[in-house]
Amino acid sequence: MVYQADPARYQTMEFRRCGRSGLKLPAVSLGLWHNFGDATLVDNSRQLLRRAFDLGITHFDLANNYGPPPGSAEHNFGRIFKQDFLPYRDELIISSKAGYTMWDGPYGDWGSRKYLIASLDQSLKRMGLDYVDIFYHHRPDPETPLQETLRALDHLVRQGKALYVGLSNYPAALAREAIDILNDLGTPCLIHQPKYSMFERWVEAELLDVLQEKGVGSIAFSPLAGGQLTDRYLNGIPSDSRAASGSRFLNPDQLTDEKLAKVRKLNELAQQRGQKLSQMALAWVLRDDKVTSVLIGASKTSQIEDAVGMLANRQFSAEECAAIDAILS
Ligand SMILES: NC(=O)c1ccc[n+]([C@@H]2O[C@H](COP(=O)([O-])OP(=O)(O)OC[C@H]3O[C@@H](n4cnc5c(N)ncnc54)[C@H](OP(=O)(O)O)[C@@H]3O)[C@@H](O)[C@H]2O)c1
Repeated sequence: MVYQADPARYQTMEFRRCGRSGLKLPAVSLGLWHNFGDATLVDNSRQLLRRAFDLGITHFDLANNYGPPPGSAEHNFGRIFKQDFLPYRDELIISSKAGYTMWDGPYGDWGSRKYLIASLDQSLKRMGLDYVDIFYHHRPDPETPLQETLRALDHLVRQGKALYVGLSNYPAALAREAIDILNDLGTPCLIHQPKYSMFERWVEAELLDVLQEKGVGSIAFSPLAGGQLTDRYLNGIPSDSRAASGSRFLNPDQLTDEKLAKVRKLNELAQQRGQKLSQMALAWVLRDDKVTSVLIGASKTSQIEDAVGMLANRQFSAEECAAIDAILS
């Protein structure tokens, strides 16, 4: 059936300005790292994208290597985009990245000009797009001069293949340096994409302050710690969950008794607030307005509904923040 987006899609979503740029992002964005590769039924992937957009999620985040196999998430997204989302291209913010291993040999990894320029060309072909809205360097490269990597990003913007550029996984001091170089090149850094959740709070020490000072937005990836900060694992490991999937990023060994005890306490607190743990965990990441958007993953449309439902209850009292800190400490 031909997809027609819900006319009410902009009624509940909150849009937040990305740093000091002209761009606003939805408070909730959808990542295609899992559940869009060739191992997933394309119809499920399609339903996830449709539901997300119907709820006002205008930002879909990809990378060259998402799959498995690498590249397949972009390819499958491209097929769905062509069938469902072509009329909505100007309502969408589509991002991709390069920085991790993508193809054999010395030119398919890290941060050289050679790799980044070839990779974005490949991504655009796979997705059937003329340009991406945001192109990221996916991780710092300790060997390539920062200038070379950032000049490549600047070049891609000048070529019209990306509208904005971003950095991901850059520590605070390096991010500061990179942001300054990009400003000098005339292509300001739009956004930084770090990992941030109740279980992973490194950004609080310095990075978020650097980004605020420089006027750069931020989008927190894995805000649910891959599903650990939800009710998914409260009664064992469901067979359709990420932890049961053989993922090297979330395996049953990580779900220790100590961690589950914290999750149970957080779950009780969420219930007292009248929301699900997943919703409290997302609202908590957004409590600081230095965070522009939370970048979730989803295997079911109900998970996207949960995430957007969080917007109705985003405020924390000082007592609740202290209680959460005490549980996490
Ligand atoms: N820049 C980087 O280096 C980097 C690295 C990693 C990720 N990312 C980006 O961040 C995105 C999100 O990462 P992520 O998937 O790890 O995020 P996440 O939101 O922390 O975890 C998503 C997973 O949590 C579970 N879940 C979500 N909502 C739920 C709910 N309401 N109730 C129960 N379980 C729920 C689902 O797992 P089940 O499959 O078990 O249902 C879902 O796949 C990626 O798609 C990617 O775009 C970027």
